[in-house]
Amino acid sequence: MKKKVALVTGGLSGEAQISYKSAITVGNNVDRERYDLYRIDINSEGWWYEAANGEKSKVNRDDFSVTDNGAKINFDVILLCIHGTPGEDGKLQGYFDMLGIPYTSCDAATSALTFNKRYTVAVASFGGISVARSMHLFKHTPVAPNEILAQLSLPVFVKPNNGGSSIGMSKVNEAGELAAALDKAFKEDDQVLVEEFISGREFTIGVVRNNAGIQVLPITEIITKNEFFDFEAKYQGRSEEITPAQIDAAMQEKLEAAARRVYEVLNCRGVVRIDFIYNMTADRPFMLEVNTVPGQSEASVIPQQVRAMGQSLKDFYSSIIEQALG
Ligand SMILES: Nc1ncnc2c1ncn2[C@@H]1O[C@H](COP(=O)(O)OP(=O)(O)O)[C@@H](O)[C@H]1O
Ligand SMILES: [Mg+2]
Repeated sequence: MKKKVALVTGGLSGEAQISYKSAITVGNNVDRERYDLYRIDINSEGWWYEAANGEKSKVNRDDFSVTDNGAKINFDVILLCIHGTPGEDGKLQGYFDMLGIPYTSCDAATSALTFNKRYTVAVASFGGISVARSMHLFKHTPVAPNEILAQLSLPVFVKPNNGGSSIGMSKVNEAGELAAALDKAFKEDDQVLVEEFISGREFTIGVVRNNAGIQVLPITEIITKNEFFDFEAKYQGRSEEITPAQIDAAMQEKLEAAARRVYEVLNCRGVVRIDFIYNMTADRPFMLEVNTVPGQSEASVIPQQVRAMGQSLKDFYSSIIEQALG
């Protein structure tokens, strides 16, 4: 019997549109000889199963089953493809844990932790990874810009703590710009992270666990025409991604070791993508954040890295599904 796989897409954040694109690539590359694939769309109007003939019906939330051609379908495994809430922050993970259905992403605790940028850098740093010096601010306890600048040196980076896609972020070069940057970030989130700016080359690295253990994918360098890898650079072509990165062996080794260590320390599962800045003066990578459901549209970094490794996306997704099935 083929295993029944639910490809879960959509989500309740601005990243839903990106999730639909990722789900197209993933859906096209799931091996249909081995798995029966069912597409589930979780959006603000409900949880929907879309049958092959385009007919939509509601998912039964008691057991996450669907009805297909009059037959009740229970899933063997969930292929999670939602960026942002509720698929990348531990909420669906907790729900699937309650139902006892395995899924392809990090577990509930790791997903919730890594969705919080400050908690992520705190735990990674505890595990020996270099991270930027930072302050964690809460809307209910305002901190004056001069108090922040007494603790952190300019330039600083201001970002919503639970955000994504570079929305609400600013690089602050002068003290006078800080208040406006804080307002902008607090519009997106009740928590804001202010980090010292790390200068250097930017890299992003996919890491996955398969039968052979933890595997670091070929490294991608991000070269942006903008001041940082902002929304425009990410989605409107204002950047170049080079896979595999053109770097010397020593730098490659340090980046790979850091990526592997982050995956271990945070007890990750499935494929994650970790962002780093390599600072030349310190001669080591600084971790920025961990994406536990990274973008997987045709042009996204993870498919680029899998191709650069010489593996087919079909084999890649089969291996992720098999890992989740245990
Ligand atoms: N402390 C920092 N120093 C330098 N650049 C940073 C820093 N934090 C973020 N950036 C830049 O902003 C981009 C987005 O930040 P990131 O923390 O990865 O959030 P997102 O979830 O939006 O991708 C990064 O890719 C990088 O270009
Ligand atoms: Mg990022």
